[in-house]
Amino acid sequence: MPTVLALETSCDESAAAIVRDHTVLASAVASQVEEHARWGGVVPEIASRRHVEALPQLVARVSAEAGLPLAELDAFAATVAPGLLGALLVASVTGRTLARLHGRPFLGVHHLEGHLCSVQLGEPLPPGPFLVLLVSGGHTELVRVDGPGQYIRLGRSHDDAAGEAFDKVARLLELGYPGGPAIQAAARSGDPRRFSLPKGRVSRPEGGFHPYDFSFSGLKTAMLRQVRALQQSGDPLPVADLAASFEQVVAEVLVERSCRCALDEGLGTLVLVGGVAANARLRGLLAERCGRDGLVWRLAPLAYCTDNAAMVGVAACQRLAMGARSPAGLGVAARWPL
Ligand code: KG4
Ligand code: ZN
Repeated sequence: MPTVLALETSCDESAAAIVRDHTVLASAVASQVEEHARWGGVVPEIASRRHVEALPQLVARVSAEAGLPLAELDAFAATVAPGLLGALLVASVTGRTLARLHGRPFLGVHHLEGHLCSVQLGEPLPPGPFLVLLVSGGHTELVRVDGPGQYIRLGRSHDDAAGEAFDKVARLLELGYPGGPAIQAAARSGDPRRFSLPKGRVSRPEGGFHPYDFSFSGLKTAMLRQVRALQQSGDPLPVADLAASFEQVVAEVLVERSCRCALDEGLGTLVLVGGVAANARLRGLLAERCGRDGLVWRLAPLAYCTDNAAMVGVAACQRLAMGARSPAGLGVAARWPL
């Protein structure tokens, strides 16, 4: 089984990990969240600079923690797409340089394949194909997985990603950045039924609705209208109830359409991954509905929901086992379909 150093710098987390197949020997993440919070979102230039500063230390740390000098590793891997170009370059150049230096193969990994693989760091999956609900800051997708590298997208968001909706609504409620954890914390004491909010459907040109697609822009507008109306009343804003109602409707729409898709497609297992998969209400509701619908469910371990390098390592090990190697001149890409 190959042992791989994996690097991840596609957005605002610098991360390194040493992974052997599905086993994490060491994993470290340096978050830049506090720095970007001052600006209310990720500033690409700052992200790249911080990655350059953080990555060498993270590599040294995981190598020491795993008790493995870099020269003893079998391969080097890095996320090469999609993400912020300048940020992606940091891990990609570092990974390719280390591979060259140690005469080992380099593997460029798709960030979303990393997220898909994060579930393998938890309880084993039952055999056979399964459906993944991937919800992050940049993506909301339903992906059928038939095996390593065999992915078919069955659903997606037509506008904001779920994480993006959390971040924007958090800004509206003045809860700060990143929005997901802030909304979750504020919602804890709120009433999730206080406000009735829309579940956003996407029409089909031939009539009816896409059964497994999502739209969060209407929900965002509804939240804005609700907040404005409440502000006009002059009373203090019921932030907890607003956050809880928003979180509830997002969790419901994600879970309802995912379960529907799994049942219609005859897929017995539903998997939840990505940054938004850290959301407790979403995790709870998915488990409850899967239990009711007779579906097996698997949640990415909490530590591996938001961006990390361990998931990139698992994806790399899987690709290496299939004989994949990336060309030395492999670049990075801001967009790249899975
Ligand atoms: O996967 P990720 O770390 O980065 C991307 O690939 O985008 O996801 C980040 C997103 C952010 O939008 C963040 O607000 C959201 O995940 N997030 C959450 C929670 N923790 C992170 N959303 C809801 N509840 C959470 N607990
Ligand atoms: Zn991500």
